[in-house]
Amino acid sequence: MKKLITIVLALGFFGLFLASCGNSGPKKMTANIENGNAVYDKACIACHWKGVAGAAALTDKARWEANAAKGMDTLHVHSITGFQGEFGVMPERGTCTTCSDQDMYDAISYMLKEAGVTAK
Ligand code: HEC
Repeated sequence: MKKLITIVLALGFFGLFLASCGNSGPKKMTANIENGNAVYDKACIACHWKGVAGAAALTDKARWEANAAKGMDTLHVHSITGFQGEFGVMPERGTCTTCSDQDMYDAISYMLKEAGVTAK
């Protein structure tokens, strides 16, 4: 009987664990544009302001529209892991080792907003 209780408890905790995973996924993130602006100013501006080294410039709506078409999840993952595209190399977290996943999400949201683009 005690064993059964242990199993039931274990399954319960596993369920909670799964539920919490679902909640922390990138899809559920909400952008903090103000923080995104700060992260951009610190970590993304060097390449993404004028479009240095193949990066999409903030004013380059066409490039950001093409990026946005990949979906926010893909952009988020690419900004975290780094991404080699046809224009150049987006370094892992834009070389910002102290930037959190949320910081990256916020910075991307800020850049899309500045470019006048909405990601799906
Ligand atoms: C050293 C230059 C550099 C820095 C710094 C940089 N990027 Fe990039 N980033 C690039 C380049 C180059 C590309 C374009 C890659 C391509 O499409 O060929 C890119 C592309 C991207 C993309 C599009 C990815 C895709 O799937 O098309 C996102 C999103 C992005 N950067 C976010 C960021 C964020 C957020 C920061 C700041 C935290 C940042 N970048 C900092 C160079 C940089």
